[in-house]
Amino acid sequence: MEKRLIWDLPTRLFHWLLVASLTIQYATAEWMDDAMQWHFYVGYFTIGLVLFRIIWGFIGPEHARFRHFLKGPGAIASYFRTLPDKHAAAHTGHNPLGGVFVVVMLLLIAVQAVSGLFMTDDVFLDGPYRHLVSSETQDLMNTLHHQVINALLLVIALHIAAIAFYAIYKKQSLTPPMIHGKKATNSPGISSSRLLLAVIVIAIVAAIVYAGVEVLPPEPVDDGFYY
Ligand code: HEM
Ligand code: HEM
Repeated sequence: MEKRLIWDLPTRLFHWLLVASLTIQYATAEWMDDAMQWHFYVGYFTIGLVLFRIIWGFIGPEHARFRHFLKGPGAIASYFRTLPDKHAAAHTGHNPLGGVFVVVMLLLIAVQAVSGLFMTDDVFLDGPYRHLVSSETQDLMNTLHHQVINALLLVIALHIAAIAFYAIYKKQSLTPPMIHGKKATNSPGISSSRLLLAVIVIAIVAAIVYAGVEVLPPEPVDDGFYY
């Protein structure tokens, strides 16, 4: 088997920047004092990452595409049957169950980040959309922001356990390919990372996020009262 490029550079960068962002988000909310402003900025960055990955899932190279790794229940069931088999053929991209995990993680992270836009730290900082919604919606977003993180932590733990299972039981190291992009495979690899396209998508996503959090939300009306 030859080593071929499977994971394009933008997908790999997306992955490790996502890991860094979520770690920072957790640390700035749970462990650090006076870091809320950073929690907001890195939260906006995370929204950009997820938006980029969704677009990349339609126009990126083969293995990054949703249609490459989102399979029906039949494929997921037959993947399950091969799980105990140490010598089952390795998947070139995400396996059918991993594909479902990717989408679940992206959805949970999107809900976590978007609900943040309606949060307050009760002291100085309000998310940019908080003052535009009813108190019921504020409460709902607050509940989501405090609860979805638990589901997300669980799914991330399962994700890391799956990587460990592959490394220890199946003797397949999935992490190095997520770093350098290459895997030993008989299937064709990708011919390029489509970097120019990625740069264009990143510029568009950055503009959308900047407009969404800085330009579009109107300033709260200051009625002169302190509450
Ligand atoms: C905050 C923690 C993490 C999150 C949210 C996360 C999320 C993700 C996502 C969304 C993907 C899909 C990549 C894509 O197609 O765009 C993925 C794949 C992957 N992640 Fe993570 N990840 C996390 C931590 C880790 C860690 C700590 C490792 C390794 C030690 C790791 C190793 C991998 C590998 C190897 C894949 C590719 C799996 C395959 O070959 O199908 N991840 N991860
Ligand atoms: C994926 C991105 C995000 C993650 C992973 C995340 C994570 C967290 C976590 C773990 C907490 C603590 C919850 C608890 O104690 O139960 C928290 C609180 C909070 N987050 Fe986020 N967050 C994200 C995005 C955002 C964004 C975009 C904003 C605002 C624009 C925001 C604003 C807040 C606020 C105001 C709090 C409450 C802090 C307090 O209790 O004083 N978050 N977030």
